[in-house]
Amino acid sequence: MSRETTSPQRPQTTAILAVSLDGKLASASAQGDRIASAYDFQHLEEHVAQADAVLFGATTLRLGGTAMRLQSPSLIQQRLRAGKPPQPLQIVCSASGDLDLALPFFQQPIPRALVTTETGQARWQGSSAFDYCWCADRPHWDWSWVLGQIATVGIQRLAVLGGGHLFASLLQVQAIDELWLTVCPLMLGSSAPSLMPLKECTSPTMTLVSAVPVGDEVYLHYRLGYGEDKGTMIET
Ligand SMILES: NC(=O)c1ccc[n+]([C@@H]2O[C@H](COP(=O)([O-])OP(=O)(O)OC[C@H]3O[C@@H](n4cnc5c(N)ncnc54)[C@H](OP(=O)(O)O)[C@@H]3O)[C@@H](O)[C@H]2O)c1
Repeated sequence: MSRETTSPQRPQTTAILAVSLDGKLASASAQGDRIASAYDFQHLEEHVAQADAVLFGATTLRLGGTAMRLQSPSLIQQRLRAGKPPQPLQIVCSASGDLDLALPFFQQPIPRALVTTETGQARWQGSSAFDYCWCADRPHWDWSWVLGQIATVGIQRLAVLGGGHLFASLLQVQAIDELWLTVCPLMLGSSAPSLMPLKECTSPTMTLVSAVPVGDEVYLHYRLGYGEDKGTMIET
């Protein structure tokens, strides 16, 4: 496998999310619960298996308690056969760094990383909970620098698993290349967490690659474009 790179280098990023028909990510009353089917879980696990690292927001972690660790023996075997580690690097994004060490996440047998601020980093000084810690405030939050750092530790494919604040902020800096959206047959109402929590946003161009109905859900795959080369890694 050869790899062509352009500068500035960042991983290929794919967001994989499930939304209700009214664009919500979870129910307002059970925000840590999944809204999609068991089939969607399998679909998500297959994407995670293809990734070198997974990125998710602190609220998603606080509510769910765990990272999306691969459990399928065949997917783990496939990774090992391809010379990859059994589990992708699990990267949590938390500006505050305020994460409870009692969360099951910290007991999971996975490699962990933190994207945070200087203040957040200070909370974890001397801790071995994270294999990597990147400070994004340089002095303002700088995704371009963070994604470059993630690339330097060998991450070519990054799966972005939400929630909405993390997804929106990456979309705004043109750092989402592909989107897999599972549309679920639900209405969750305006107080539920949203796929796009920003009041205003600039939309990339979205090219539909596929739309596959499975039961009452639809699996949409879009390729995103921003009108210029954003310097992602390209594998050939
Ligand atoms: N349906 C799905 O596919 C799906 C997937 C994922 C999550 N969810 C649901 O979505 C909900 C959570 O989504 P959410 O939008 O409220 O939260 P989120 O994006 O998971 O996390 C937001 C937090 O992450 C950190 N963060 C994210 N982007 C940041 C940035 N650009 N700069 C600095 N810090 C940043 C901050 O952490 P600090 O507060 O620590 O500073 C922020 O408060 C939950 O209900 C979860 O279950 C659903």
